[in-house]
Amino acid sequence: PQTALAPSREEVITADPANNVTDNIFSKIGVNLHQQRGHPLCTIKEAIYDYMDKEFPGVFSKHDNLYPVVPTVANFDDVLVPLDHVSRSPNDTYYVNKATVLRCHTSAHQAELLRKGEGNFLATGDVYRRDTIDATHYPVFHQMEAVRVMKEDYWRATGLEPVVACERELKATLEGVARHLFGDVECRWVDAYFPFTEPSFELEIYFNGDWLEVLGCGVMQQSILDDNYAAGTKGWAFGIGLERWAMVLFDIPDIRLFWTDDERMTKQFPPGDLSARFKPFSKYPPCFKDMAFWVSPEFSENNLCELVRSVAGDLAEEVKLIDEFTNPKTNRTSRCYRISYRSMERSLTDEEINEVQFRVRDAVAEKLKVELR
Ligand code: PHE
Repeated sequence: PQTALAPSREEVITADPANNVTDNIFSKIGVNLHQQRGHPLCTIKEAIYDYMDKEFPGVFSKHDNLYPVVPTVANFDDVLVPLDHVSRSPNDTYYVNKATVLRCHTSAHQAELLRKGEGNFLATGDVYRRDTIDATHYPVFHQMEAVRVMKEDYWRATGLEPVVACERELKATLEGVARHLFGDVECRWVDAYFPFTEPSFELEIYFNGDWLEVLGCGVMQQSILDDNYAAGTKGWAFGIGLERWAMVLFDIPDIRLFWTDDERMTKQFPPGDLSARFKPFSKYPPCFKDMAFWVSPEFSENNLCELVRSVAGDLAEEVKLIDEFTNPKTNRTSRCYRISYRSMERSLTDEEINEVQFRVRDAVAEKLKVELR
């Protein structure tokens, strides 16, 4: 299989004061689950390819091997993310240094590909976000970006306002993609905000009794096209989170399962099979540990979760705030978190988890300068 060149450790874990990439994160770069045939994420990717190729024969170029280490400018500025947007914070994004990040969305490739003359593309890759820990969040996940440029003669021929022409094609395309994967589902559109599209929408589908948000999209901001492709062109874009689609479609209950090579998981998903449904092979018991401390300026939930993952890896299932209070006299705030440890593959012993929890406590006290209680 095709494999992306991965950066070396020295390239992404630097002495730069802005660097916040951990070894745990580094170990995920270059794995490229979306390129592994038979992996559920790859199956979702291929199914979307199939639909897009059927609807737009020969139109979309496909990119699934783009380097995940990108200029900060490409990740944010080129797609008009405001300077004060939360996603730029080092609490949310992995910085190699001030000028370089691990992409936090595949939209980081919009401008670059447009400048290369690619007007219609699907770009799939691993994306990186600092976040909290639960069954649906993992600091690395995968997205597919689509950009579709309509040349002037094309949208003029529709007789519609260009924005209306784009919106119409965008919505019809995405409802088609969703039905291609999920069957004859009901779809509804919700207004959204993204800096790089206007108007922006989220698609929700009614699946197994719930309305689920499954993607973000919109009509591209004109300046992105004017500055990087050709003035006067119109276009639309979407971004699909592949884990989200795979978890919903295949009934996969925990996002860590995408990373296991346990055959009881991997054998369940034949390449290209959209009808596979996850059958639980065992559910080992969780082990809960509580940790209370006085918070510090260095503390944030994302920082706490980063340390938990660094120490416990994929044994960390959830980190949940269970108590918080502020002492009115000293104005200090105490928080108590419950960490749930569970292996997808085996039973854990209490000794083993006590040892992990001690190392978590040490790391949190040392790195976040909190006072343990
Ligand atoms: N980049 C957006 C995200 O990560 C998704 C998106 C892509 C929205 C393209 C609109 C257009 O949430």
